[in-house]
Amino acid sequence: MPAGEWATSEHALRYLSRAERYPRRTEGESALGEQVPRDARRILDLGTGDGRLLALLRPDRSEMLAVGLDASEPMLERARERFALEESVELVQHDLADPLPPLGRFDAIVSSFAIHHLEHERKRSLYAEVLELLEPGGVCANLEHVASPTHRLHVAFFAAIGEPLEDEDPSDRLLDVETQLGWLRELGFDDVDCYWKWLEVALLVGIKPGEPR
Ligand SMILES: C[S@@+](CC[C@H](N)C(=O)[O-])C[C@H]1O[C@@H](n2cnc3c(N)ncnc32)[C@H](O)[C@@H]1O
Repeated sequence: MPAGEWATSEHALRYLSRAERYPRRTEGESALGEQVPRDARRILDLGTGDGRLLALLRPDRSEMLAVGLDASEPMLERARERFALEESVELVQHDLADPLPPLGRFDAIVSSFAIHHLEHERKRSLYAEVLELLEPGGVCANLEHVASPTHRLHVAFFAAIGEPLEDEDPSDRLLDVETQLGWLRELGFDDVDCYWKWLEVALLVGIKPGEPR
């Protein structure tokens, strides 16, 4: 089953019912928004879910033509409802475990809380595909659930978000910030850094070398 648990309505709706309540989330999303130029036209959202991130980026980017990609039918159904009147948002069903389909080039490729569901090897190869799909000067911005350096900090994170550790998502494949930043640098992104972080939530950013059009 593509994307495991996310294919079930129960899992998807459980996440959506809690999504608003995660502490500091809006701060992280706003930090991501600051890295996506206002004149970015083509934006790809990996693991778009119900389209929350694209909906946040949309108001400040009147020229935006977005593609939201996700494997989960229940999530895509919500996204279709959200963007029912929006011709500027295209939704594509795709399992990120597989290579990205031909989607054209993008000025920005964003993601929030999705890539950590992929196996580590696939995270790295996906970042390589992202670099390939970006226009010169384009931005990759991934607001991500990352691994804590110690188990004690992992427990502290769950306490901070008010969830029991037993409720940890079985589809999580958490990876530390340093490894992911190292990969982005090795792959050839510029200006790679963690631009914002709160406990296990981090904004990882890299720019495709070259001058924007
Ligand atoms: C925690 S939700 C985040 C959704 C949305 N980006 C947000 O910020 O609210 C994780 C999303 O990743 C998607 N996802 C997980 N594994 C995936 C995979 N292998 N391929 C495509 N999407 C996947 C899920 O369906 C879900 O929509």
